[in-house]
Amino acid sequence: MKKIAVMTSGGDAPGMNAAIRAVVRYAVRNDIQVLGIQRGYAGLLDEDFIEMDFSSVGGIMEKGGTILRSSRCPEFVRKETRQEAAKILAKHGVEGLIVIGGEGSLHGAMFLEEEQKVPVVGIPGTIDNDIAMTDMSIGVDTCLNTVVDAIQKLKDTASSHERAFIVEVMGRSSGYIATVAGLVTGAEAIVIPEIPVNYEALGNKILKERERGKINCIVVVAEGAASAYTVARHLEHRIGYETRITILGHIQRGGSPTAFDRLLASRMGVAAVEFLKRGNSYVMTALQGGKIVPVKLDEVLKQKKSLNMELVELTALLS
Ligand code: F6P
Repeated sequence: MKKIAVMTSGGDAPGMNAAIRAVVRYAVRNDIQVLGIQRGYAGLLDEDFIEMDFSSVGGIMEKGGTILRSSRCPEFVRKETRQEAAKILAKHGVEGLIVIGGEGSLHGAMFLEEEQKVPVVGIPGTIDNDIAMTDMSIGVDTCLNTVVDAIQKLKDTASSHERAFIVEVMGRSSGYIATVAGLVTGAEAIVIPEIPVNYEALGNKILKERERGKINCIVVVAEGAASAYTVARHLEHRIGYETRITILGHIQRGGSPTAFDRLLASRMGVAAVEFLKRGNSYVMTALQGGKIVPVKLDEVLKQKKSLNMELVELTALLS
């Protein structure tokens, strides 16, 4: 294998730069040239490429975002568009493609190999932790630390004013971020898409906590379950005290990656090149039981990652 390409696609996630660095450096050490594709699939179609070498990825590991930039590319759902992309890659002598991104990006990669015979390896990069068959995706840990830090700060002001805060977090249709953040900040409750919400029971629980002398209240809401405004509307009249809303938004996607994310990204980046080199494509790098293993892309993408209900039970038990 003489030449590969790497891209980041979809919503960015902290640690993507560490993955790019690992891909480029491990490839270069194996005498493989690397083409960086800027702006994901959209950049691929525009031939927005840069040659990458050992020093072009120096000093990027600690940076948030992605130096290759990213985009969502709805046109890539069309077969003709993917055919065009494969032609471009062949024209540039690219023998294998590494795609770092979430579910939509991995689908694009899967079809590129299935239909167009472009060897691909996916690396799961998304804050949502909604990719099946891998314990963690790149960016999840940093995102959780950001959310926890924000909630701790909200707890300070919530206590001073004896208020309830409804905090909305990202996660698309997964309640993972809300559950873990709720568990490790001792939130009163979580509202997640995996479990139907009972506002009456939730209101009663919060009132009981107040009676017990608790002066703050945090409810973490996953964006896929409800909006913070809806939850506040349902709770305010039930609990009868001041409520404030915080929507954390895209702050959850930024920031310098944690040690965990840098390590995961470095291991997955190296593994991705190694899999391509050995002809083991049509796979995603996955973290399973502490090891990085290849898992078939179609197997990954036909499943919906289920939330570990033990975490939900723990949250309820300990709050
Ligand atoms: O998939 C990552 C994510 O941040 C989701 O949690 C969120 O729903 C979505 O992307 C937001 O996407 P955009 O940045 O395109 O608004």
